[in-house]
Amino acid sequence: MLKARHLVKEFGTIKAVMGVSLDLEKGDVLGLLGPNGAGKSTTMKMITGYLEADSGEVEINGINIEEDPIGAKRNLGYLPETAPLYDEMRVIDFLNFIAEVRGLKGHQKRKHVNRAIEMCFLNQVTRQSIYTLSKGYRHRTCFAQAILHDPAMLILDEPTDGLDPNQKHEMRNMIKEMGREKAIIVSTHILEEVDAVCSRVALMNYGQVIFNGTPEDLRAVSPDHKALFVQLTAQNPHEILLSLKENFPKAKFLVDELESNYIRVKVHHHKKELNFNDRFFSLCKDKQWRIDNLETKEGRLDEVFRTLTMPNSRTDWPTASLIWNKRNDPTVTGDLGKL
Ligand SMILES: Nc1ncnc2c1ncn2[C@@H]1O[C@H](COP(=O)(O)OP(=O)(O)OP(=O)(O)O)[C@@H](O)[C@H]1O
Ligand SMILES: [Mg+2]
Repeated sequence: MLKARHLVKEFGTIKAVMGVSLDLEKGDVLGLLGPNGAGKSTTMKMITGYLEADSGEVEINGINIEEDPIGAKRNLGYLPETAPLYDEMRVIDFLNFIAEVRGLKGHQKRKHVNRAIEMCFLNQVTRQSIYTLSKGYRHRTCFAQAILHDPAMLILDEPTDGLDPNQKHEMRNMIKEMGREKAIIVSTHILEEVDAVCSRVALMNYGQVIFNGTPEDLRAVSPDHKALFVQLTAQNPHEILLSLKENFPKAKFLVDELESNYIRVKVHHHKKELNFNDRFFSLCKDKQWRIDNLETKEGRLDEVFRTLTMPNSRTDWPTASLIWNKRNDPTVTGDLGKL
């Protein structure tokens, strides 16, 4: 559905987007993440043809957006960051107008407008002038225009921004539902949204995509991913670490906390340490260490986000550029399995 290649956009001295490439298939819901000013909206504007790229190419459903902008945009619905609405118009008139602009007439026009009103729960405000709408309803009206012609691809710039929790929930369900048969890009600052609706994630920082993969892949970047945290009580907890290292030479143990009667250790057990769990438990039994707490962590998206976009904050993490080089660029080929 989408092939974006090496998109570049500069505003004077500001390098807003520096060589972004993205691919999207039908059924993909891609979450575009990144700190303020990372270049998400600018990328979306170039993909939708709203802004001309300095260089790079965009193909929507096989149609080059520069060569055939109208043909490409027929396949596209766009919810921009700030809703471009005609304030004096009533909601129903605005949607009818948009339908006509998009070439819908008669029965088709009524069908599409009614569908959009229903999907965006706009029934009770259709006769209201747009300037009298609350923020949430303005947002929904703008969303209705994006889906009006039932496009195969949707670009949604912070679609849940400013919505109340119920509307957020509705919007996420709607995106998820539509994601089954469309290709969707959603930019967001809400990381729980990534889990709720996205099948893929691209993380941008300083105009570049520094990570591209599934939400699980992103979580796996965390050094806490699949790590085992264990708290053991013993007469001499200082000896525990030594003993663990001796018995499991391939595993990594990091002391989280060490007190006079207990130790909390983070364990990354290596797959070559066969039967790690069984051996670990019997060692605890033999040595008479009491297991007070045992938990496996998956790694948190917000922590990964912070660390990748502020790479100096932790030195034990792979650098953003490493991940970018290995994983992100769909034009880069080679052995990705080693990462
Ligand atoms: N029309 C413009 N003129 C000058 N600079 C611009 C323009 N549009 C965007 N920029 C700059 O480009 C950079 C990227 O902006 P962009 O709006 O794409 O970021 P974003 O990732 O969407 O951020 P946010 O999370 O705040 O929405 C910023 O430094 C911004 O100031
Ligand atoms: Mg933005």
